[in-house]
Amino acid sequence: MGTEGGPNVYDAEPIPAEAKAEIERLLSSGDLFRYTAPADAPVAKLERDFAELMGSTYALAVSSCSAALFLSMLALDLKPGAKVLIPAFTFAAVPSAVVHANCVPVLVEVGDNFRIDMTDFRAKLAAGADAVLISHMRGHTSDMDQIMALSDAAGVPVIEDAAHSLGTLWNGKKIGTVGKVGCFSFQSYKLVNAGEGGILITDDPEVAARATIMSGAYEYNWAKHYGLAEHCAKWQNRLPLYNMRMQNLSAAVIRPQLPLVETRAAQGLRNHDQVARALNQSPFLQVPPPLPQETRAPDSLQFLLQDFTDAEALAFQDAAKKRGVSVQIFGLSKDNARAYWNWGFLGPQPDLPQTRGMLRKAVDTRLPARLTESDCDFIARAILDAASEVKERAVVAA
Ligand SMILES: Cc1ncc(COP(=O)(O)O)c(C=O)c1O
Repeated sequence: MGTEGGPNVYDAEPIPAEAKAEIERLLSSGDLFRYTAPADAPVAKLERDFAELMGSTYALAVSSCSAALFLSMLALDLKPGAKVLIPAFTFAAVPSAVVHANCVPVLVEVGDNFRIDMTDFRAKLAAGADAVLISHMRGHTSDMDQIMALSDAAGVPVIEDAAHSLGTLWNGKKIGTVGKVGCFSFQSYKLVNAGEGGILITDDPEVAARATIMSGAYEYNWAKHYGLAEHCAKWQNRLPLYNMRMQNLSAAVIRPQLPLVETRAAQGLRNHDQVARALNQSPFLQVPPPLPQETRAPDSLQFLLQDFTDAEALAFQDAAKKRGVSVQIFGLSKDNARAYWNWGFLGPQPDLPQTRGMLRKAVDTRLPARLTESDCDFIARAILDAASEVKERAVVAA
């Protein structure tokens, strides 16, 4: 059980039993490194399965989504100092990956619907950008129709950070396949959990080949990647090796979860929509709707407090916790890694009033796919009662 008797939202899904036999086999043989076997290592099979699942030509499994983002920027041959547009609402690892690639992140405003503000995007693209990196933060897809049209017209490549978006569709197409490169995370609290891990997908053989070598396919190990030999050969010894490979044990944990993606996505959406419908009945709360092109795959819920002072927002957080549901307001929790003003490693940044205003009233709560209808009812009730208690107290005090 969770806080004070609420549903347990912290445990991840159990790892399918098939993983255990494969892990046992790998432990008995000690075959943990992806390049030991002459062919068809578990990591190579994962890449083939993931590319097939997504309908993309190439997949490269790596140590994290951050590594996938970093390698994408280098594979696109972005030069030191290149400007990369990113949303100002994302996880600190994203601007960090940009800095790691020797590029300069340019933060774009995010609106009250958790998506990139297109007016600010247009202005910052027009001011000069070398790449666009879109985090579909917490699975909220930014307007990829407009972003692709504008970026294509400007000749600027788009990387999708789909860390939270496995299973999401945009106009019926899998998210992560809309831009030139898509990056996913297998870190815990993602739809597919391996503790750590990431994967990059693309249809561009040059990007795939360069990323493969830089991920650590030294000497001729790139020949063990499906369909890339001819493209890798010309980069032999010409690119640095960053050694961000995935190991076989991670692939053994991930592969049996891939057939579950669709079901988990559908369950996550069902849970999300059940709680969202309930919260939208309250005058104190608002769950922004999806964009019309989007079919979401959420495993958490974000909503906005309506006309709460900071003190009321914090009182709401406490009141929900007392009722057994842990919620967090992104912009009011100390040192939150998703609040851009805490990214001190970037140096001074211009203020972004829209994103700042949104983060101070945006509430985050976990809502894993495995929850039941009555768990979701419990969560919705606790949130509604906590909001009413705080706002009604405010009316009495006035
Ligand atoms: C939006 C977003 N992008 C990227 C990442 C990085 O993922 P990883 O932990 O696999 O490096 C995260 C981490 O949770 C994230 O929230």
